[in-house]
Amino acid sequence: MINLEVESSQIPLDLLLEADPSEASISSYLSDSWCFAALDKGQVFGVCVVKPQRFALAEIYNVAVSPSHQGKGIGTKLLEFVLSQLPNKGVKRVELGTGTFGYQLIYYQRLGFRVDAIIKDHFLLNYSAPIFENGIQHKDMLRLYLQLKKTIEQSH
Ligand SMILES: CC(C)(COP(=O)(O)OP(=O)(O)OC[C@H]1O[C@@H](n2cnc3c(N)ncnc32)[C@H](O)[C@@H]1OP(=O)(O)O)[C@@H](O)C(=O)NCCC(=O)NCCS
Repeated sequence: MINLEVESSQIPLDLLLEADPSEASISSYLSDSWCFAALDKGQVFGVCVVKPQRFALAEIYNVAVSPSHQGKGIGTKLLEFVLSQLPNKGVKRVELGTGTFGYQLIYYQRLGFRVDAIIKDHFLLNYSAPIFENGIQHKDMLRLYLQLKKTIEQSH
């Protein structure tokens, strides 16, 4: 498996839909974003979509690994690769939104992401169908952030 920056047209839609169920939402950020992929023999198994914001800020809008390949470290290696590439693009701080519980939160926190804020009722107000995980309904969204420079210094 190799990690590369790719064109948005190389990313399969069904993979993006694993992390974001709305095609309209995906098309609102895809063309203005940097796209990174985990590939094996030319086939895309993982994707990470990062949209530059104002100043040195970027937001991760979508991270997904093919269901058949999840839990094998592909997503962690891809996110590590993305975080190593972003300083070359002038990014110092990365932000994202995720649920308040579940393995995805641990996935980000293991790479140093910290909680910035809670957006109350985000999943109730912005999704047409309720989202359940481990029998619990996702209601609020956590905003996470990572200061890239600090993380690199701390890891030495
Ligand atoms: C989140 C995601 C990108 C992580 O990629 P991945 O390749 O599966 O991640 P890794 O293999 O590096 O594993 C990270 C941790 O998540 C756990 N995990 C991965 N997939 C899981 C699943 N479907 N259910 C429960 N735990 C899972 C792994 O077991 C691992 O924890 P561990 O080390 O304690 O075992 C991927 O699971 C995915 O695409 N999920 C669906 C889409 C999604 O939720 N995207 C994020 C939106 S906020």
